[in-house]
Amino acid sequence: MEVKKILVAGLAASLGIQLFGACAREGSYEEESVYVGVAYYDQSDTFINALIDCLKEESREYEDKGCEVAMQFRGAGGSQRTQNDQVKELIDAGCNVLCVNLVDRADPSEIIDLARENDVPVIFFNREPVAEDMMQWDRLYYVGALAGQSGTMQGELAVELIRSDAGIDRNRDGKIQYVVLEGEPGHQDAIIRTENAVDTLKRNGIEVEKLSYGIANWNRAQAQNQMLQMISQHQNQIELVLANNDDMALGAIDAYEKLNYTESALPVFLGIDGTDVGLEAVREEKMAGTVYNDKEGQAKAMMELAAALVTGEGMDKIELEKERYIFLPYSKITPDVLD
Ligand code: GAL
Ligand code: CA
Repeated sequence: MEVKKILVAGLAASLGIQLFGACAREGSYEEESVYVGVAYYDQSDTFINALIDCLKEESREYEDKGCEVAMQFRGAGGSQRTQNDQVKELIDAGCNVLCVNLVDRADPSEIIDLARENDVPVIFFNREPVAEDMMQWDRLYYVGALAGQSGTMQGELAVELIRSDAGIDRNRDGKIQYVVLEGEPGHQDAIIRTENAVDTLKRNGIEVEKLSYGIANWNRAQAQNQMLQMISQHQNQIELVLANNDDMALGAIDAYEKLNYTESALPVFLGIDGTDVGLEAVREEKMAGTVYNDKEGQAKAMMELAAALVTGEGMDKIELEKERYIFLPYSKITPDVLD
């Protein structure tokens, strides 16, 4: 144990590890201190950054419960290879549990091998590995949300709006002309959200016509570009913009603002996430609604699970689906909910 204490104290000093609570007192490391290595796919993702902030907050709160927690963060800049190296670094640095937001959700094998060799459990989050990979080892977990639910809720928001405002069908042809802004191809939250949102509209008897779609990788600037192209193709025909996340909905709004569209000529915009900027846009009624991606709940679940895996305490209080999954529910956000 001595060796490990020195190792962790040295690590904290040399790598600028973020220490919380009692862990910050040198020489106070105990066997059951929780050293969390957090690896995430990209530093420029709005929702992930907010989730990371919640995780920091959560670990601060955890210390109040008398648990020693240290966290270290590594953003991979969109490279799985970089992330594999970072995970190795985190393990070498003495982390005893990992939280991993994969770059490529289909390529976790190297990380799983590293973790297993060193017996460090892994909590994957937000980017869900495929089921077979989750079965590679019994100390693999996933914390996230059900993609399908967010899509269905976005569709329900659209149904409610269309039913309550006949003006949304601007050309009065009895159909809603829509476009989609999609997240990264291959991400569980992209294709499933789109499918469920559109299915929900159809299931509720709304006639829809898809005009176009653009892949914007969760990114506001890319969404603006995609939207500018779609507007130049379809001009005033677009009545509804379904975006797989808030940043892309905001990028779409940016495009219309850039073209100086008057308010009455704008389509309805719907996002997902409920980021600070997203909620602000709903409050200002620029965005008709969004679906809240419960980052606080996800961070709490991750911290609880991390602590339980390291200390061996509290595992019985954690409700796992299929012994390794935790899914936090989404919720619908409209301007009246925010009032
Ligand atoms: C989604 C979220 C997106 C983006 C993505 C990254 O759940 O809605 O905004 O953050 O995760 O994996
Ligand atoms: Ca129409």
